[in-house]
Amino acid sequence: MSLRIFIPRDAGALAVGAEEVAASFATAAKRSSLAIDIVRTGSRGLYWLEPMVEVETPAGRIAFGPLTPGDAEGVLGALVTDGAHPLRLGPTEDIPWLNRQTRLTFARCGVVDLRSVADYRRHGGYAGLTRALSLGPEAIIEEVLQSGLRGRGGAGFPTGIKWRTVAQAQGAQKYIVCNADEGDSGTFADRMIMEGDPLVLIEGMTIAAIATGATKGYVYIRSEYPHAVAAMEAACAAARRDSALGHGIAGSPYDFDIEVRVGAGAYVCGEETSLLESIEGKRGTVRAKPPLPAHKGLFGQPTVINNVLSFASVPVIFEKGAAFYRDFGMGRSRGTMPIQLAGNVRHGGLFETAFGITLGELVDEIGGGTASGRPVRAVQVGGPLGAYFPRALFDTPFDYEAFAARDGLIGHGGIVVFDDSVDMAKQARFAMEFCAIESCGKCTPCRIGSTRGVETIDRIIRGEDRDANLTLVEDLCNTMKFGSLCALGGFTPYPVLSALTHFPEDFGAAPRLQAAE
Ligand SMILES: Cc1cc2nc3c(=O)[nH]c(=O)nc-3n(C[C@H](O)[C@H](O)[C@H](O)COP(=O)(O)O)c2cc1C
Ligand code: SF4
Repeated sequence: MSLRIFIPRDAGALAVGAEEVAASFATAAKRSSLAIDIVRTGSRGLYWLEPMVEVETPAGRIAFGPLTPGDAEGVLGALVTDGAHPLRLGPTEDIPWLNRQTRLTFARCGVVDLRSVADYRRHGGYAGLTRALSLGPEAIIEEVLQSGLRGRGGAGFPTGIKWRTVAQAQGAQKYIVCNADEGDSGTFADRMIMEGDPLVLIEGMTIAAIATGATKGYVYIRSEYPHAVAAMEAACAAARRDSALGHGIAGSPYDFDIEVRVGAGAYVCGEETSLLESIEGKRGTVRAKPPLPAHKGLFGQPTVINNVLSFASVPVIFEKGAAFYRDFGMGRSRGTMPIQLAGNVRHGGLFETAFGITLGELVDEIGGGTASGRPVRAVQVGGPLGAYFPRALFDTPFDYEAFAARDGLIGHGGIVVFDDSVDMAKQARFAMEFCAIESCGKCTPCRIGSTRGVETIDRIIRGEDRDANLTLVEDLCNTMKFGSLCALGGFTPYPVLSALTHFPEDFGAAPRLQAAE
């Protein structure tokens, strides 16, 4: 019997040499006449240990990492002797970073053969769809409502309410659109799902289609994700061959198929109405609401648009029941959140856990502080439109309402860590500049306001008429917050004002960073 070796094909692992490591295992096995079976998976999300390779043993999988191609021979040698190797991490499931997590959405990521429907089923895949089919549309929506699932793309809108609106809307053709634009800084969970467990996304979209009467779906993926595009296309083809997509899903009367669309690289195309314009072949500009996409969405038809993680969390809700899922979390934030630790952090990666964990636990205990070894000074949570939080706010629990109460947002769950060399005036300027570059141009507060914002912050940094310009920036932020058509212009004030509120010393005449140097 051949030895099964699991090597990620996730872009994060490929970037640090996973392909070369896979090739070297094949060569080393041939040389020593050892029969091995290399299975390509997604990443477990412990990125500082990639390329992390796992080997199947009677006692479960054993992990080794981070490996270089030169390590393959030694690892194989260790496997046929006493198993000892300097890069042996032990049983994968016992690695503390993984062991502390509650993986519901990511249960199979890094585990399954990412393109095999049979392997997906062996690991519990399609159990949710089978139950959903037995329930029927109305009960499906009730189950999603009961689970408390809220959209993981940023706004946290209840998923069941969105689905019910589409189910009740009149339309000749309904659509399911998956938002895989993932433009937020420090986020990669959508990519990991598509590259590690694409069938869970397909299954979640299929359940949405049955619930709402949609027969056609799109996955809109950013162009910077070529591996995700390839993985999704391969998984859709595999699902079609298995009758899990197409005409009469799993022998039921429901038809549903999915097409993958690649974006052209604009942050604003992650905004749902811009995204719909882009799929329709138009320039990505924001539509005024109402009408909501649920009433008049893609090609003017009722459309469910949800984030990758929202859809990917649906199968487990049906497999284990709404009450099981709802039991995790705090307040109105139910279930688990795949949190992404990035930036200047020692242990960066994917950490899925129930809502309620504090920001401090995430950054200090799980992230292990900064990669540079210097003190953590600030973290930005929720992408480029999220607030900067200082250490004083590290007791904030990861929860939609708790973050909002402190003028922040959890967004798509990305945390970007900065050490004490960060200049927060430059970060505030960057937020305005980002908005100016990415603005779709439809409304004045965002289009003009962001450029004026950059100019005003520049004056503050130069020490010109500082107090008057600080007042002007605050005034401008208010105009953007309340006068913008979408959250790009409307939320840019969050990073700007949080930098001003929590780090005022960086906006002084002598920038703090220069003083420190
Ligand atoms: C400028 C901007 C960018 C956005 N980018 C994304 C994105 O990359 N992915 C995403 O899922 N939602 C993004 N959103 C939120 C979407 O508009 C929408 O709320 C989301 O796709 C709905 O799905 P959900 O309910 O599952 O979260 C963005 C919003 C704005 C204003
Ligand atoms: S806020 Fe900016 S991105 Fe949004 S509609 Fe207005 S101009 Fe476009």
